[in-house]
Amino acid sequence: MNKFILPNSILHSKKFTYGVATSSFQIEGATQADGRLSSIWDTFCATPGKIKDASDGAVACDHYHLWRQDIDMIASLGVDAYRFSIAWPRVIQRDGALNEAGVAFYMNILQYLQQKSIKAFVTFYHWDLPQHLEDQGGWLNRNTAYQFQDYVAKVSSAFGDLVYSYATLNEPFCSAYLGYEAGIHAPGLNDINYGKKAAHHLLLAHGLAMQTLAHTSPNSLHGIVLNFTPCYPLTDSDADKAAAIYSDKTYNQWYIKPLFDGCYPDIIESMPIAQQPDIQPGDMDIIKAPLDFLGVNYYTRSIYQATDNGIVEVPPTNVAITDMGWEVYAPAMLELLVSLNQKYNLPPIYITENGAAMNDKLVDNAVNDVDRIEYYQQHLQAVASAITQGVNIVGYFAWSLMDNFEWAEGYEKRFGLVYVDYTTQKRTLKASAYAYQALLTERV
Ligand code: FCB
Repeated sequence: MNKFILPNSILHSKKFTYGVATSSFQIEGATQADGRLSSIWDTFCATPGKIKDASDGAVACDHYHLWRQDIDMIASLGVDAYRFSIAWPRVIQRDGALNEAGVAFYMNILQYLQQKSIKAFVTFYHWDLPQHLEDQGGWLNRNTAYQFQDYVAKVSSAFGDLVYSYATLNEPFCSAYLGYEAGIHAPGLNDINYGKKAAHHLLLAHGLAMQTLAHTSPNSLHGIVLNFTPCYPLTDSDADKAAAIYSDKTYNQWYIKPLFDGCYPDIIESMPIAQQPDIQPGDMDIIKAPLDFLGVNYYTRSIYQATDNGIVEVPPTNVAITDMGWEVYAPAMLELLVSLNQKYNLPPIYITENGAAMNDKLVDNAVNDVDRIEYYQQHLQAVASAITQGVNIVGYFAWSLMDNFEWAEGYEKRFGLVYVDYTTQKRTLKASAYAYQALLTERV
């Protein structure tokens, strides 16, 4: 398959926003340039054993130097929008003042995007916390939320009207759980008592930033990006079903319910005090700030089983999986979108990430990634079905524009529509990029 087939769908309309997504640490490189401070990911990468291929973000896709040609490439795809993130340690100095050189890098990007009529979807926090803030406790320290608010105030004021849409955070679940509880992402802390505390401060940071953006950038859209991994029971047994519901509350609903209902899921009541977040009076009202949009990231589902040793996640067997080992299962995306729409009073939804790492091979200057096209086809179809079922989805971003630093997996996992040769920094459009381009440019 080398083309998308989406019969009679709104997805063929120019009114639907299409984009590609990246994040700062994963593509920029130049981690020492122009006064950029160290981030928790620099430290994490320098810690032996944390990154599978022992790599780091020092060069990545060298986007810090190649940004102009990368935006030309983005424009050639025919997208309406580009989602990228700001590296906090690049734009704010240790004393809290703006780093003008760092700001200039993003201003150049924003102005060039505007010249190309591509809408800028900016994320303030895609995981690269300045290391000096981590040294003071990072997201376990309530003060980090206020530091974030200050960063957002300064940078959004500097950007003026160049940004179409701001997301405060990308996937607070990953920052909180993977970073502070499971220890597999930076800063690598591994303590069951930390995850929900970090999550609360992240959500507080989001709410505070929403207040600020209303003043500094009243004309842009303001929202947040959450990831969802829908939880399914292994069998129909009551115990497995309860295991799936519990997992959904702790991994998914924990991050969305406070935004709309102003409270955490009911499992908080049976949680040991030591694991509970430190909620101050007024926090939940701040967190509940009305959103202009919700960003939804979807990749796969998880399956859970109740065992004598507690709830376990069961790895996928005998099903299609991506190079990450993640099951390819688009029906869960449809069910997720429909169920969120039933549970919450949702604002317009952007699918801010969806995509697959595949075992790409560059042969004769081409990558024939039919498996990735098939993945996108199935998931775009799920989006179309969700829209038909009444979910207000207004845009879709492919993850990712190009292969990049895939966190703890290093450079071995390739998510791009564009292939990156990390030795030469040559970009090669994969078959999936051409298929995406055809879909986008044939819209009416
Ligand atoms: C998401 C991240 C993104 C990328 C994809 C594969 O969790 O937001 O940076 O790594 O997964």
